[in-house]
Amino acid sequence: MEKQKEDIVILAIESSCDETAAAVVRNGREICSNIISSQIELHKLYGGVVPEIASRKHIEKINQVIEEALEQAEVTLDDIDAVGVTYGPGLVGALLVGVAEAKAIAYARNLPLVGVHHIEGHVSANYIEHPDLEPPFMCLIVSGGHTHLVIVKDYGEFEILGRTRDDAAGEAFDKVARAIGLGYPGGPKIDKLAKEGNPDAIRFPKAKIEDGPYDFSFSGVKSAVLNHLNHCRMQNLEIIDADIAASFQKAVVDTLVEKAVKAAREYKMDRLAIAGGVASNGSLRLAMAEACEKAGIRFYYPSPVFCTDNAAMIGVAAYYEYIKGTRHGWDLNAVPNLKLGER
Ligand code: KG4
Ligand code: ZN
Repeated sequence: MEKQKEDIVILAIESSCDETAAAVVRNGREICSNIISSQIELHKLYGGVVPEIASRKHIEKINQVIEEALEQAEVTLDDIDAVGVTYGPGLVGALLVGVAEAKAIAYARNLPLVGVHHIEGHVSANYIEHPDLEPPFMCLIVSGGHTHLVIVKDYGEFEILGRTRDDAAGEAFDKVARAIGLGYPGGPKIDKLAKEGNPDAIRFPKAKIEDGPYDFSFSGVKSAVLNHLNHCRMQNLEIIDADIAASFQKAVVDTLVEKAVKAAREYKMDRLAIAGGVASNGSLRLAMAEACEKAGIRFYYPSPVFCTDNAAMIGVAAYYEYIKGTRHGWDLNAVPNLKLGER
């Protein structure tokens, strides 16, 4: 990368869950490198993320991942203008590794430090491949830990219309996958298996929430899948995993699409984006694209690599925070339950 004088180059670090990631981002939207070291193989053995193992693995990997990110971008720390890092929400021990690393680099190099909200990162993933996308727009964030429907009013400014009352969408995918023996992480496995199943085979319930039209609840559909499995086992009925996967996925996708499009209409947003790990779900992308087309709404989604956890999205969010003047001090701490919009 040839750095021009007016360029703003950010080194970004992400370690909130089970991905150790670093990226170099130029002027907010150009990804010069995006290195992700996934711990999935390790956590698979336990059927989910083990926080203590995640923290230890982050410590082992983080220096190497940052070196690779700089190398691939063909820059050194001399070219970096600011260090961006996810400081919440997430696993406290995992977050701490990234935060401590970012502080150390920024302090040693006398660089500004910009703490980033993980969800703001997920939303910002949409800016990478869509140069035309700018706030305001409607955004549905569906990840392993979060389900939020928000209006992105400006960069880093959100109005939350709804959120999940219980499980996150990705969490429901993971739990149902475990129940039918698919293993961790369940989302991509259900996505794949559902292609062979009949989405209308079993009618799983969709939660109705009277006092929160844009809130979500996924524990009901998850329990319905477990009940269906128990019922089949007790009656010695055949269990068709692909039909369960397809029918469960349909129930979740229908709810997500319905609420997101309804909100976009009600708030007169002509653009709708999706973000987070579940946003890479094939059926969700297809159904949302169809519904948006019908409603005359432009639909945006990131490539799968930018949907699941990565540092490129954190670098993008850090850039917009940086130019707004957000700076964090050496007392920046990991905040496991950081609220969206807090700084
Ligand atoms: O955004 P992410 O990488 O981590 C969090 O911030 O939580 O999301 C991970 C979640 C997991 O629950 C995973 O099962 C789900 O995203 N996921 C998917 C797909 N790919 C990942 N869910 C449904 N379909 C997929 N293709
Ligand atoms: Zn995430």
